Amino acid sequence: MIIQGGERLIGEIQIAGAKNAALPLFIASLLTDEPVHLHNVPALRDIDTVEKLLRIMGITVDRSGGDATIHAKTLGTIEAPYELVKTMRASILVMGPLLARAREAKVSLPGGCAIGTRPINLHLDGFQALGARITLEHGYIHARAKRLKGTTIDLPLPTVTGTENLMMAAALAEGTTVIENAAREPEVVEVGEFINQMGGEVSGLGTNTLVIKGVPGLHGTEYTIMPDRVEAATYMVAAGMTRGNLFLKGTQPQHLKAVIEKLHEAGMEIYEENGGLRCLLTGPIKSVDVKTLPFPGFPTDVQAQLMAMMCLANGLSVISETVFENRFMHVGELKRMGADIQVEGHSAIIRGRGELSGAPVMATDLRASASLVLAGLAASGTTEISRIYHLDRGYERMEEKLRAVGANIRRVKE
Ligand code: EPZ
Repeated sequence: MIIQGGERLIGEIQIAGAKNAALPLFIASLLTDEPVHLHNVPALRDIDTVEKLLRIMGITVDRSGGDATIHAKTLGTIEAPYELVKTMRASILVMGPLLARAREAKVSLPGGCAIGTRPINLHLDGFQALGARITLEHGYIHARAKRLKGTTIDLPLPTVTGTENLMMAAALAEGTTVIENAAREPEVVEVGEFINQMGGEVSGLGTNTLVIKGVPGLHGTEYTIMPDRVEAATYMVAAGMTRGNLFLKGTQPQHLKAVIEKLHEAGMEIYEENGGLRCLLTGPIKSVDVKTLPFPGFPTDVQAQLMAMMCLANGLSVISETVFENRFMHVGELKRMGADIQVEGHSAIIRGRGELSGAPVMATDLRASASLVLAGLAASGTTEISRIYHLDRGYERMEEKLRAVGANIRRVKE
């Protein structure tokens, strides 16, 4: 991606459906043998990957534009292969529905990734608590269960996909399952609401305690996916960093409270306007401190983007990443653009210099690549970002959306 910095972003951006809701909903469709219809599906590489994964498992998937019909009439193989799992860790989410419906699942053990080792021990401990037997053979996790039986699962960490995986397994288990310290992210709530619409009985959604009453079976349904709060947050930061004025269409502000609060503190004006969010900055960017936390705290998925913004402030800001152990891969790249950042353990100390200078940089993971695009939009001169495929995993047509509001940005073949 080649960006000439310095353009103010002014105009309107349509926010797409949420990647981290669409992925689990595609997979939750395995819980029924009836067709499921999804709307507002974002056009992302990760959605292409989950579509491939379901097809390999013998499930019919028809997608046209933002609509998808998924019909898991019968489950072909019960296996999620290595070549797909290594490109998308969320593939581990098939384990819950496969155990629930086929009593068996074989999923390649996801490797590490740029932002951390990201173990799945809490998923597996939960499945064992529900009565599954788990073995690890030749890099594959093999789970089998005669019958899943409801129980109480106490999560040491509010794992997002762990909560989703266990909720899906519990939906068809015998008896009632209680998940303590469950994740409260809006995407987790969405998976629970989807299961309820299919005839499931999940209560406590949005709180740390979920109660799932197992039912004998689930039926098909139709569902519209929520807007992507991380995409929206990314463009909110873009408005601030370019001193622009953006209207973000289709956002749900209640999912963005911690981000809006923090950006207000940094000097932005953000307010609701007919069905979306108006975001602008007219004064100076102020240095703020932030600590990433599970929802409803400040999301780790917006940490890299805020760091790019803090490079433009004039002062000291401390950003602490409490969720992942290695989510500062963007620091080295931002320093190539003139940023003054020191990493001390789980915290990064940013000495804002009020400006950034364009440079060739490399994307390392999805949200780090977004922060480099934001930095390029605000930097003086040209920024060239390589390995931009990371961006396409989670942002729909980013350069088109940015060009439409005045950015000088284009994608070229490397
Ligand atoms: C989900 O990942 C999201 N992905 C991530 O978004 C997001 O950053 C993350 O939640 C935190 O909000 C999807 O929803 C597909 P976790 P997930 O399990 O579920 C540790 C993006 O940019 N942990 O909540 O994998 C783990 O190591 C992606 O869209 C265990 O130790 O995150 C991490 O430190 C990146 N054992 C912490 O918990 C486990 O069994 C939170 O992980 C599971 C997790």
